[in-house]
Amino acid sequence: MLYNYYMRMRKKKWVLPFLENEKEYLISDLHSLPKDRPIYIEIGMGMGDFITQSAVLHPEIFYVGIEREETCVARAIKKAQENGIDNFKVLLMDAVTVTEICDPDSVDLIYLHFSDPWPKKRNHKRRLTYPTFLKQYETILKDDGILILKSDNEPFFDDSLEYFRSSNFILEETDRNYFREGEPMTAYQAKFTAEGKPIYYARYRLNKV
Ligand SMILES: C[S@@+](CC[C@H](N)C(=O)[O-])C[C@H]1O[C@@H](n2cnc3c(N)ncnc32)[C@H](O)[C@@H]1O
Repeated sequence: MLYNYYMRMRKKKWVLPFLENEKEYLISDLHSLPKDRPIYIEIGMGMGDFITQSAVLHPEIFYVGIEREETCVARAIKKAQENGIDNFKVLLMDAVTVTEICDPDSVDLIYLHFSDPWPKKRNHKRRLTYPTFLKQYETILKDDGILILKSDNEPFFDDSLEYFRSSNFILEETDRNYFREGEPMTAYQAKFTAEGKPIYYARYRLNKV
């Protein structure tokens, strides 16, 4: 199970010393990012497979990964180092405070990839698509900004579509069996795709009013 893999990774001893000495990729806010390129962020980036590969393919875009697990962040930074990319930064933080570290109207695109589904009703407010999070995304995204959602979990996906209905996001595309040849995949996406499981996909555009 990928989940168990994540749990095991948290115990690794190299992670905290590695992060304490990391100066190149780890940042504490988005205020001083270059303004000459579009900014794409992935919230809950996991080990950074998708975002580091995307940064290699698209040097014209600046990518930022947000992730609250130290081991995931350290793994993602190692991938960035291996690829020598200079259009990628990481924030080790909980996305619940994203509007505090990011200027309003500054982000061009947000990816939410295989977010934790939090199936129990009492935990729904933790979902990264919950209305309180969508409000924050509306603040940091530019008008016409894009939000892309991918999930393996149909109930979570359907609930998320409902949350978006009460927001200023306009649904542009949905696909209940998403696959794009040649597009980088997250670790979860690669696993579920290899198992033949459907990937649920939605693409939204923000219409600021
Ligand atoms: C199920 S994993 C998916 C990882 C990756 N996106 C993928 O598709 O392989 C969800 C990730 O989101 C992170 N996460 C969940 N809630 C978060 C939050 N509120 N702020 C930052 N990261 C969060 C978790 O630590 C975990 O790494």
